[in-house]
Amino acid sequence: MKLIVDFANLHQIKEMYSYYPVDGVTTNPSILAKEGKNPYEVLKAIREFIGSNSELHVQVVSLDAEAIVKEAHKIREELGASTYVKVPVTREGLKAIKILAKEGVNITATAIYTQMQAYLAGKAGALYAAPYVNRIDNLGADGVKVAKEIHDIFKKNELKTEVLAASFKNSQQVLELAKYGVGAATIAPDVIEGLIKLDAVTCAVEAFTKDFEKLCGKGKTMINC
Ligand code: G3P
Repeated sequence: MKLIVDFANLHQIKEMYSYYPVDGVTTNPSILAKEGKNPYEVLKAIREFIGSNSELHVQVVSLDAEAIVKEAHKIREELGASTYVKVPVTREGLKAIKILAKEGVNITATAIYTQMQAYLAGKAGALYAAPYVNRIDNLGADGVKVAKEIHDIFKKNELKTEVLAASFKNSQQVLELAKYGVGAATIAPDVIEGLIKLDAVTCAVEAFTKDFEKLCGKGKTMINC
């Protein structure tokens, strides 16, 4: 499962890239709004930092198919042809996905709440489909189960589309999908940090340090003991 950062703040993206094995960055209009700057200024800085081999996913805002296609072209022109264009799976979105897929554009179908939306987006040619795990949970349904079923639908129908699960609020949701082997998960920095936060681990490491310092003195390590 690829691990992607769902955020647009360059400082935090750099932090995530230096500490964690991450594969790319996803954004959406709400995430970009938090930066309060021109979206292309923010996205170009991210692209420059992550390089052309890391995935960058950028969402369109237009609602009708023709405008979505134009917006996708502009996004690729500004940020490179490898950029994944995120298209919400509405009726117009599906029409745009069909057109863009024929042109060879990398498409991430987004705003997915149902298995059927994902199936249609996959058949239309999207490379990723992004179910909103926690938002589905908040509707009283089971977001992890929806994401797993979408993964199964893609495999059983021999579609090349992969799940890019999104909207996580806790480690358990991420773990369940890693165990299932979905294609990717995109996660906000605070939730990524939570993946490794465990008091028992901190205590164990502190005890090792104390024992070693008793043996060799304060601040000593295997470098200078
Ligand atoms: O891009 C969509 C997804 O990341 C939404 O996440 O946390 O706003 O539900 P969230």
